[in-house]
Amino acid sequence: MAGSFRKIAVLTSGGDGPGMNAAIRAVVRCALHHNMEVMGVMRGYQGLIDNDLIPLTHRTVSNILSRGGTILKTARAPEFREESGMQKAMDVLKSHQIEALIVIGGDGSYKGANDLYRRFGFPVVGIPGTIDNDLYGTDQTIGCNTAINTALDAIDKVRDTAHSMERIFVIEVMGNRSGYIATEVALASGADDLIVPEFRGNYEEMCVNIRNGVKQGKKSWMIVVSEGAGKAHVVADTITNITGLETRSVVLGHVQRGGNPCGADRILATRLGVAAVDEILKGNYGKAIGVMQNEINIIDLSEARKRVYDIYQDRYRLLKILR
Ligand code: F6P
Repeated sequence: MAGSFRKIAVLTSGGDGPGMNAAIRAVVRCALHHNMEVMGVMRGYQGLIDNDLIPLTHRTVSNILSRGGTILKTARAPEFREESGMQKAMDVLKSHQIEALIVIGGDGSYKGANDLYRRFGFPVVGIPGTIDNDLYGTDQTIGCNTAINTALDAIDKVRDTAHSMERIFVIEVMGNRSGYIATEVALASGADDLIVPEFRGNYEEMCVNIRNGVKQGKKSWMIVVSEGAGKAHVVADTITNITGLETRSVVLGHVQRGGNPCGADRILATRLGVAAVDEILKGNYGKAIGVMQNEINIIDLSEARKRVYDIYQDRYRLLKILR
């Protein structure tokens, strides 16, 4: 049922991602446009439990569109997984007369949002904010595009030294249990091989390729491994043990989560932020907002769980043709 709201809240939860601030700005300004008050919850669900909320105004969200991180801070909140933690959060929402909540985050944050909706009937809408791009219901999650570009920038730099010193490099990228970031950066950086959780390459085959390359005069290799598939230093040691060739490892780590969001992430976050407020106003709760084929797409929060892609074999085929 469509409603008229006086006060809503927004929070960011789980790992931060570039573009979360752009989403906060869109939520706040769209809500203000519809004459609602907006509260910002600090540090995700933990801030709800701790009653750490701030009023958000037009001015609070100026100059944040282009900034990485999240002005609301973020956290993982184990206490919120307990019934008692959720009850505390509900009490705080009530005490502030908050009538709906927008959650910006990934898989775990969506689970919390769905619990609030299902168990307490509280109006909640989710916006996909994670660099991992591992959720159903959206082609892209906020932050993934920027993270890919950040990783590429670093990998291009490592390639310079790999080429100059004629070495093998294994580069570990983030992505949790998803190989999405690894696959995209492998293709875009012209990597020689790829190891992802969904589709593990074969070490023996990889090393046969390296040996064959050596015979043909190839001097440097770039191999991308997704953190969910293995540690870069272990992969590097395995390659050295099999081929006898010097292999170095680089872990890109949290560098990939920072920095100014790219244009695509700012636009995605802005569209999703406005769409989330629109759905609240329509009375469409318990939903996850996404963009699919460039159109706003709405699915149930319960369906927006961890996504398993089937792109890996195809991308791997391209990689093998092009390396
Ligand atoms: O979900 C985002 C992400 O950056 C993953 O890619 C990574 O596995 C995880 O968060 C790291 O979490 P933390 O910052 O808590 O170590």
